[in-house]
Amino acid sequence: MLASGEVYGKDQPLSLMLLGSERSYGALEGVAMELEDSLYPLLREVTIGIDPVEMFQDADWCLMIGAKPRGPGMERADLLNANGEVFQVQGRALNESASKDCKVLVVGNPCNTNALIAMENAPRLARKNFHALTRLDENRAKCQLAMKSGKFYTSVSRVAIWGNHSTTQVPDFLNAKIGGLPAMNQIKDLEWFKKDFTPTVATRGGALIKKWGKSSAASTAVSIADAIRALVVPTAPGDCFSTAVCSDGNPYGVQEGLIFSFPCRSKGDGDYEICNDFILDDWLRSKIKATEDELSQEKSCVSHLIGLDGGSCA
Ligand code: LMR
Repeated sequence: MLASGEVYGKDQPLSLMLLGSERSYGALEGVAMELEDSLYPLLREVTIGIDPVEMFQDADWCLMIGAKPRGPGMERADLLNANGEVFQVQGRALNESASKDCKVLVVGNPCNTNALIAMENAPRLARKNFHALTRLDENRAKCQLAMKSGKFYTSVSRVAIWGNHSTTQVPDFLNAKIGGLPAMNQIKDLEWFKKDFTPTVATRGGALIKKWGKSSAASTAVSIADAIRALVVPTAPGDCFSTAVCSDGNPYGVQEGLIFSFPCRSKGDGDYEICNDFILDDWLRSKIKATEDELSQEKSCVSHLIGLDGGSCA
């Protein structure tokens, strides 16, 4: 998708620098051969390597996809230790060699806290430019709303995901629209929103792993493309997109310094602002508080990786 121009535009040439590990080097060579033989007109160069400092050199965008994957029965928190150290090393490498305006999108789980670790280890880069992927959750929420209402998914808009990319995430049905009208006016079933829609979206990743023993791959790739496009194409009036970003200065009172998913808007220049006009009721507020508490707990678990003292991992 990147090489074909679907993401950055049909007039934007690009170079891909693919970072792997010693163990995956053969696969990396295979991917590079596939890309070369596809003759993508916009793809100017493919470089492969296992040294993050070399592979991040002058990078404008860094998509941090790799992480130890979650297997059946594992929760995201189980991955904190396994992946945290990798993101510390990679954050330092970003700091050393990436472009100072580099936009970083973390996909590997637990992605919010991995993004936090990378951000805190890369002080030369703007904190604002670190993202964790919650567009996948937004897409899942849109799919559920479209199926329930019997409308096509392109008519579903303004769907925010709040908080962590985990089972505590909050898919926002209160502000969502279908065909430009409040979703709750068209699906008049509050019980469905609370007891079906919300857990279905929040546990979709785990449900998929149970089915075929692996994390979602195709829908994740699509949502990565969507997440980047959301930053390089202006947001339609009244719409939003979800991305987890550093909570400094947000209008919803979320604890500063967490990587927290918010509804955002972009002018299409790679930058974004957090939407300040989302209405929250008591139910949403309490759910948002729970996901905020989880992220705060995750942060305390990785304090040793982000230069903070103390903390504990319950
Ligand atoms: C997903 O939401 O599909 C993945 O984040 C699940 C996972 O933990 O790999």
